[in-house]
Amino acid sequence: MAPAPIEIDSLTKRFGDVVAVDDVTFEIERGEIFGFLGPNGAGKSTTIRCLLDLIRPTSGSCRVLGLDSRKDAVEIRRHLGFLPSDLALYPNLTGRQTLEFLAHLRGGVDWTWVDALADRLDADLTRRVAEYSSGNRQKVGIIQAFMNRPEVVVLDEPITGLDPLVQLEFHGLLREHAAEGNTVFLSSHTLSEVERVTDRVAFIRRGRLVAVESMDDLRDKAVRRLRLEFAAPVEAEAFLAVEGVHEATADGATLTVQYEGSMAPLLRAATERDVISVESGSIDLDEMFLEFYRDEVQA
Ligand SMILES: Nc1ncnc2c1ncn2[C@@H]1O[C@H](COP(=O)(O)OP(=O)(O)OP(=O)(O)O)[C@@H](O)[C@H]1O
Ligand SMILES: [Mg+2]
Repeated sequence: MAPAPIEIDSLTKRFGDVVAVDDVTFEIERGEIFGFLGPNGAGKSTTIRCLLDLIRPTSGSCRVLGLDSRKDAVEIRRHLGFLPSDLALYPNLTGRQTLEFLAHLRGGVDWTWVDALADRLDADLTRRVAEYSSGNRQKVGIIQAFMNRPEVVVLDEPITGLDPLVQLEFHGLLREHAAEGNTVFLSSHTLSEVERVTDRVAFIRRGRLVAVESMDDLRDKAVRRLRLEFAAPVEAEAFLAVEGVHEATADGATLTVQYEGSMAPLLRAATERDVISVESGSIDLDEMFLEFYRDEVQA
């Protein structure tokens, strides 16, 4: 059996007294889009830097396509695309010159593909990097990560700065790339940013892996939130009794509820009371973390 494209094995990285990554282990399968989620300082970039051999682990190891991150770093680079979180580009080069420079380092790329990528992400490659907005700079970063059609793509916060339309295109690109049998590993702060595109996610907090879950399982488990507007003020208590609802707060004619499972009983209760509008809030990372902690406390 072919090795998993990405394997992180008991990875620990300390900076002095700070344990940035604490005994983290997980694997990413071929063809997967895998999200790495956590708040600021959780250890996402540190894990990724170890994987790319930009820094050395205190203990543990990482493998890419079965190759050791440290020993086989050069070989790994031939199969891998990478977008760092702190991408540095030469300000005086245009977008195209930047890509030409990087393509040269990598022994040439297919420019039809690169132009198609630029088109898709609506990137203007004629301008100088110094003149780019942060979103446009990020586009050049994404294009360079994909330019040699790598088997494994590692993206540290790729969505930062991208507007919603470009995000949609970017998600499409990730899906197509994965459908061709390639593997995508991307980090993010929020689940809502990546929930539509990832197959599985790992949650990291204070250097420790909190959970690794498939998006399907997560959706089933997720606590969902709705905001309902009524014609007249409502009482929260009446909704707490509804099946699946485990939190309800009323503010005049506005009701905010958290529920689990089917939305139907809640909607029935709402329509009995002259509901005017229903707005659904996506599951956010903090709530997800709270859920995991709640599970831990109960266990
Ligand atoms: N070179 C370094 N020297 C000292 N401490 C570091 C260094 N790099 C990271 N750290 C510390 O390691 C911890 C993890 O940082 P890391 O950059 O991996 O977090 P992150 O999850 O990528 O956060 P963010 O979402 O803010 O990018 C933090 O406490 C950070 O301060
Ligand atoms: Mg980071």
